[in-house]
Amino acid sequence: MNRTLLALVSLTLLAACGGPTAAECASNTDTYANYGQAFVTTNCRSCHQHTSQYGTQAAVQGSLTSLESELSTGRMPQGLTLTAAERARVITWLGCGAP
Ligand code: HEC
Repeated sequence: MNRTLLALVSLTLLAACGGPTAAECASNTDTYANYGQAFVTTNCRSCHQHTSQYGTQAAVQGSLTSLESELSTGRMPQGLTLTAAERARVITWLGCGAP
């Protein structure tokens, strides 16, 4: 694949999921340890209790696409309300690969 095509494909993918840019991820200080673990414990784990369901960083990273889609459509967290800022923050963290 040549470079132009690669760039086009990446742009299309970015536009399709509207994820954070590389620059946004580089300056984002949220990590699983300082943010993500507490977020899923508070907002998700009361229902999704199995370890494979977001109980470890690897489990979160293995489900990035479905987590992002459930959160961005607002289907999850079921029964809980997130502020727009909280939702945007977790979607950005997931979009950066849940570092
Ligand atoms: C009050 C309980 C509850 C909470 C809290 C909750 N979920 Fe769910 N979740 C469910 C149920 C029940 C389903 C399956 C049925 C459905 O889709 O409504 C589901 C489905 C899902 C799915 C679809 C794939 C699957 O495993 O079936 C994802 C992804 C998901 N939840 C992620 C999350 C995330 C991320 C959070 C936290 C931000 C969260 N959920 C919080 C109850 C919950």
